[in-house]
Amino acid sequence: MTAKLILEGKEYDLPTLRGTENELAIDISKLRAQTGAVTYDPGYGNTGSCQSAITFIDGEAGILRYRGYPIEELAGKVPFTHVAYLLIHGELPNAEQAAAWSESLRGNSLVHEGLLNFFDHFPVTAHPMNILAGMISSMSSFYPADSTDDAHIQQNILRLIGQVKTLAAFSYKKSVGEPLIYPRNDLSYCANFLRMMFATPCGEYEVSKTMEDALDMLLVLHADHEQNCSTSTVRMVSSSEANIYASVSAGVNALWGPLHGGANQAVLEMLQRIEADSGDYKKYVEMAKDKNSGFRLMGFGHRVYKNFDPRAKLLKKAADAVLDELGVSDPLLDIAKSLEEVALNDSFFVERKLYPNVDFYSGVIYRALGIPTDMFTVLFSIGRMPGWIAHWMEMRNDPDGRIHRPRQIYTGATLRHP
Ligand code: SDX
Repeated sequence: MTAKLILEGKEYDLPTLRGTENELAIDISKLRAQTGAVTYDPGYGNTGSCQSAITFIDGEAGILRYRGYPIEELAGKVPFTHVAYLLIHGELPNAEQAAAWSESLRGNSLVHEGLLNFFDHFPVTAHPMNILAGMISSMSSFYPADSTDDAHIQQNILRLIGQVKTLAAFSYKKSVGEPLIYPRNDLSYCANFLRMMFATPCGEYEVSKTMEDALDMLLVLHADHEQNCSTSTVRMVSSSEANIYASVSAGVNALWGPLHGGANQAVLEMLQRIEADSGDYKKYVEMAKDKNSGFRLMGFGHRVYKNFDPRAKLLKKAADAVLDELGVSDPLLDIAKSLEEVALNDSFFVERKLYPNVDFYSGVIYRALGIPTDMFTVLFSIGRMPGWIAHWMEMRNDPDGRIHRPRQIYTGATLRHP
């Protein structure tokens, strides 16, 4: 099927293509050569940057699938490390593959000792996302990272997934002035992280199964989300054949923004602000509707989901279950639920199809697990790591891949002379 374009009286036939879920795209890859015109799509809301087989989202129906598996059948049911394998290799691991994969990840959990003194040169007030981005970028100085060498790449994938949780826990320990707790090879991915975060050399630390399972589910829910801002950043950087560490570090920086992954921290701070303001959540819903207030309901709205974010639905249920199992009662969860109820019955939000997104409830669970607020987006990065890697690999293995270089519409001064 072709699309017909009529431009300045001339007709052009543009090819079209359909994805496996029947999404229709107009192929404009030859548009400028044919017509001299470019398209204009600030924020790329209508632009497909690539063809990808990793994750499918249907924003209208609220569907999210990793390699065809519905998120509801993975989160809390399939271990995060197996989901990481699925995203990167395309299939869930069999028992043998899973054992070898977990063993390799555990064997790559130690951070290069040469990196450790970098922690001491960040001010103690440094945001852990700043530390994480810097550390991941620096890994390319400690490990061979030639992006054309398959052996290097496979090893660096294990290092990134294995070490990101260690870097995160180490940055937390440094921020609270406690000794670093090293990973152990007899613990699961999530148990290792929780122990590195909360154990001290002064005694044994028993990882709570409830906390371990809750964290595993959270990481699965954050593992990938097709061409979101940070993943598109990873793809953009990797399109110049920059190494995997440089590409992922750029993704961490993009995720940090409060409109993206940084929203989970902003949601918690918003809920605390409402709580401190005598819990008057209706006042904040009104503020969010007033363009001049400069206030947004953080954790609400999404570029793609114009229905419930399926992750938010799962997280809302999990928040109740986890806090109940941990015997935690958090007034912020009640405020969040009240905000959601008021917003979803308010025409401003309904007309704009603004629903809770993945960041709206996740912070309440992180808080119940004892994770400090400024570490929430770091946890998002740990979850998103396999997704970033899967897209980096897909870009690298694309025979038609080329450097990303968008065009523009120039609006500056025309020719003039000094
Ligand atoms: C993530 O892309 C992904 O997949 C991201 C992510 C992933 O897994 O990678 O899902 C993770 O980043 C989730 C989003 C987290 N961000 C937030 O919760 C921040 C709050 N949300 C918004 O800033 C906003 O909704 C965005 C950034 C998420 C989406 O921005 P868009 O698509 O550019 O929407 P927009 O700003 O054009 O808003 C459309 C309208 C505007 O009003 P009008 O101009 O039409 O009158 O809705 C309004 C906006 O003012 N609006 C909001 C709002 N979000 C949008 N008004 C109040 N509160 C909000 N949260």
